[in-house]
Amino acid sequence: MVTTDSKIILAFESSCDETAVALLRPPSELCASLVASQVKEHAAFGGVVPELASRQHLTNIDFLFHQALEKANVMTSDIGAVAATSGPGLAPALLVGASYAKGMALGLGVPYLAVNHLEGHLLSPFFGEKVIPRHLSLLVSGGHTQLTEVMQAGHYRSLGKTQDDAAGEAFDKVAKLLGLPYPGGIEIDRLARSGDPKRYFFPRAFMDKGNLQFSFSGLKTSVRYFLEKQKATNSGADEALIPALLEQELADLCASFQEAVVAVLVEKTRRAAIQHGLDCIAVSGGVAANSALRSALQVLCEEHGWELRLAPLELTGDNAAMIAFAAFHRLLTGERSSVAAEINPRWKIESPRFTKK
Ligand code: KG4
Ligand code: ZN
Repeated sequence: MVTTDSKIILAFESSCDETAVALLRPPSELCASLVASQVKEHAAFGGVVPELASRQHLTNIDFLFHQALEKANVMTSDIGAVAATSGPGLAPALLVGASYAKGMALGLGVPYLAVNHLEGHLLSPFFGEKVIPRHLSLLVSGGHTQLTEVMQAGHYRSLGKTQDDAAGEAFDKVAKLLGLPYPGGIEIDRLARSGDPKRYFFPRAFMDKGNLQFSFSGLKTSVRYFLEKQKATNSGADEALIPALLEQELADLCASFQEAVVAVLVEKTRRAAIQHGLDCIAVSGGVAANSALRSALQVLCEEHGWELRLAPLELTGDNAAMIAFAAFHRLLTGERSSVAAEINPRWKIESPRFTKK
């Protein structure tokens, strides 16, 4: 077993449009956690362009690594293991972080760990802790929406997933329809604060008894139809899809759409917890930053006397601290990955072990 308590874990995250580096002295001392966001580069395209992301990771990664060492006042000889996100994600983007990390691990002569991005998110509400309790995980991000029963670190059972768009994707697509900047989740959250969530009703999918699956593409389409109808009835509308909505209407629309997403997430979480006898709920991923979702889950857990573990806000979006922490839990079980292991853009949480020696 690798001694993990004294040596630092160096971790890289490059699965999508954030290049991130972290240095973690396990279990809880985060010496550095740097994120270089590419939001501006992709904003013009209204979404992430994989090849552009890959090139930006290449430009950023070495600089970010040296900045992290300097910031933390750490020497490479203090590093005991190197980890990188190896999936799921965009292949050209994953390759940059994983290849850099493998080279670093080989050069330093320390173990390499291929980490599942979803496991990084999923464990983030327990950041700094050595034991992960049995719980229900709700992971909501731009690429994923899933409910998972966590027996302990590394032992996961999928209970429900989105069948089409992820919750964050729905936020981003609706924000685009509304002419809001990318990524739109945070903008909708902000505007919804002054809106009336009951003003409009948008559909909730798969609400039939016991169903734990998600679907958000119909909701997005329903917002599109709503806007088209408004445009048709608004004689003064310009060519854009969105008519000149009054400020209050925009806020009400954001609040009503958000209410539909939150209502589904909370109801499925409630069902899953009851069906599987779980009384601790952990929430992670970019959408876990959503203020309406956080308060609705708080109410749910108070009502049922369940423990709620919300990922710290700074760990909700993509970051490398969560990858270092997941690597720590892999190391605790004696696991290492082979540097020959390839990235896996479709890696599922149910099989978090990449390769084992
Ligand atoms: O976890 P993350 O950084 O990347 C993925 O792994 O996908 O999640 C990004 C997603 C984006 O869709 C973004 O719009 C959404 O999280 N997001 C939010 C909020 N902050 C970020 N969605 C709703 N409300 C927010 N406050
Ligand atoms: Zn993510």
